Amino acid sequence: MNSAEYIHKSKFLYQPVDCEIIDVIYLTPSEKLFHVRRMDGAPLGHLPGQFVQVSLLGWGEAPISVASSPIREGAFDLGVRRAGSLTGAMHQMKAGDILGIRGPFGRPFDLSRLFGQDLLLISGGCGLAPMRSLIQYCEDCPSEFGQISILYGAKSPADRLFKDELAAWEASARFACSLTVDNISGGDCYSGSVGLITALIPPLTFVPDKTVAVIVGPPAMYRAVIAELKKKGLPSDRIVVSLERQMRCGVGKCGHCTIEHLYCCQDGPVFWLDEIENLRRAL
Ligand SMILES: Cc1cc2nc3c(=O)[nH]c(=O)nc-3n(C[C@H](O)[C@H](O)[C@H](O)COP(=O)(O)OP(=O)(O)OC[C@H]3O[C@@H](n4cnc5c(N)ncnc54)[C@H](O)[C@@H]3O)c2cc1C
Ligand code: FES
Repeated sequence: MNSAEYIHKSKFLYQPVDCEIIDVIYLTPSEKLFHVRRMDGAPLGHLPGQFVQVSLLGWGEAPISVASSPIREGAFDLGVRRAGSLTGAMHQMKAGDILGIRGPFGRPFDLSRLFGQDLLLISGGCGLAPMRSLIQYCEDCPSEFGQISILYGAKSPADRLFKDELAAWEASARFACSLTVDNISGGDCYSGSVGLITALIPPLTFVPDKTVAVIVGPPAMYRAVIAELKKKGLPSDRIVVSLERQMRCGVGKCGHCTIEHLYCCQDGPVFWLDEIENLRRAL
């Protein structure tokens, strides 16, 4: 399927559909998880890696990745960092409040090319929210993939998203988890690794022609993580990145999200590295 087909699968290109917040879960001092369902009862119809445009009257609109597996129907999750006007207003909302949602939009993770492969799921900071959609999908369809390694880095123990799920993934035989934080302070109750996420890669053992790495995180993380993966022999056509750009329309009309000739909202946000590594300011 090409990128235009993902867009046209969405019936809600321009008009938001009302969605009710079912639950709001505290994740960190600056991030909350919103458990949301469409008021008309229809499923969102997303795939892991896609995003929606969230709107609130008077506050505008912002792209937010879907943080839950499409297999878990009935409701979907949005992990939201308080960054500005719309996300600040969302952080004041509670169960029963209504959001507008357009989408789902964008090119998802290519599950057909991940099928049968060993996966390195590498995320940093808020990147664990979109990655959670793929991790949950792996939990829901365990026979579709080979060995799955989850690598996650956060600034501090308190900044880690989905702490209960991280503990469950660490305890699960399905996943090999390597977790790290940049810094710890005296009062932190934490016994894991301390250091940058790049330090988690050299000890990994994987077969490059049977492995795909998926990276979602802050811009500074990509180059360093990709360099470590390449040192281990992983080629660009086996590395997937999910990129963020300033977006307005989300559907390839306004041109705010361009990376040279590509529209991040429509050709991405998920790209194979060999598609974008030679484009200016892509990473
Ligand atoms: C495809 C995609 C998926 C995203 N998924 C998530 C998600 O799951 N959870 C989440 O919390 N955020 C996500 N974001 C980022 C989110 O859309 C921005 O933080 C957005 O600006 C918040 O809107 P606001 O009105 O609260 O902030 P604004 O008031 O618009 O802006 C706050 C500040 O952030 C800057 N900014 C705006 N957009 C971006 C951007 N894309 N990257 C970096 N800086 C930006 C602005 O210039 C300003 O300085 C995603 C962005 C994209 C493009
Ligand atoms: S956000 Fe408008 S073209 Fe991509």
